[in-house]
Amino acid sequence: MQEDITVNEREFDRVWSSFTALLHESQDYICSEWHHGVEALRLMERPIEIEKIKDVISTQGGAIKLTYPVGLDAWFAILAQGKFPVYANVRPPEHVAQSDMTDFYHDLFGHAPYFVFPKFNQVSKQFAVLWATVTKEQRELLLKLWFYTLEFGVVARGDKLYAFGGGLITSNVALKRFINKNIEIMEYDLASVLESGISAAGEPERLFVFESVADVYAKLTEGMRHVV
Ligand SMILES: [Fe+2]
Repeated sequence: MQEDITVNEREFDRVWSSFTALLHESQDYICSEWHHGVEALRLMERPIEIEKIKDVISTQGGAIKLTYPVGLDAWFAILAQGKFPVYANVRPPEHVAQSDMTDFYHDLFGHAPYFVFPKFNQVSKQFAVLWATVTKEQRELLLKLWFYTLEFGVVARGDKLYAFGGGLITSNVALKRFINKNIEIMEYDLASVLESGISAAGEPERLFVFESVADVYAKLTEGMRHVV
């Protein structure tokens, strides 16, 4: 049964030290909301206790569902029920810096820190509910919106920029390109997002900067309204 899915501890442990070492190296370039979530869920502590994580998230109106990889429509169908899908598969050690597919590390360290914020839970569910009601063409645009906000968004604080998106944080290759400014970084603009591509390997063409995390959610909501 789906509910019996667990993460293979041995596979998880094989990547743990090198993955968290890379995160530690780059942590000053990650937004404060992420740090808050990591601490609230005790994500840097071993062993990871999924049940405790679920308890903390539930106090903020969130929920997760461990699952094996599924197609996009099935993925959003789970989220539309108010449960953020968390993949149980674990990247192999040779892909620690950049996984070729979404995995437990991506979901746990990229998205889970934000599950302690009611607004994230609310907006992501709203997005998934909308997904079920729109055309194939609209889904292509919605996907870009999700990708350039929740996966690869960057937030400004003062004159500094910080990684916010889960895809950006859990791909050390992408994070280094951001830190070293080895990728185009521009102010958020919906038309530019919708014109930007997503590479076959799931890499962004550029990164978009938001005024704050609250601004990411506001722009995401505005974008959803625009696309449909
Ligand atoms: Fe993701």
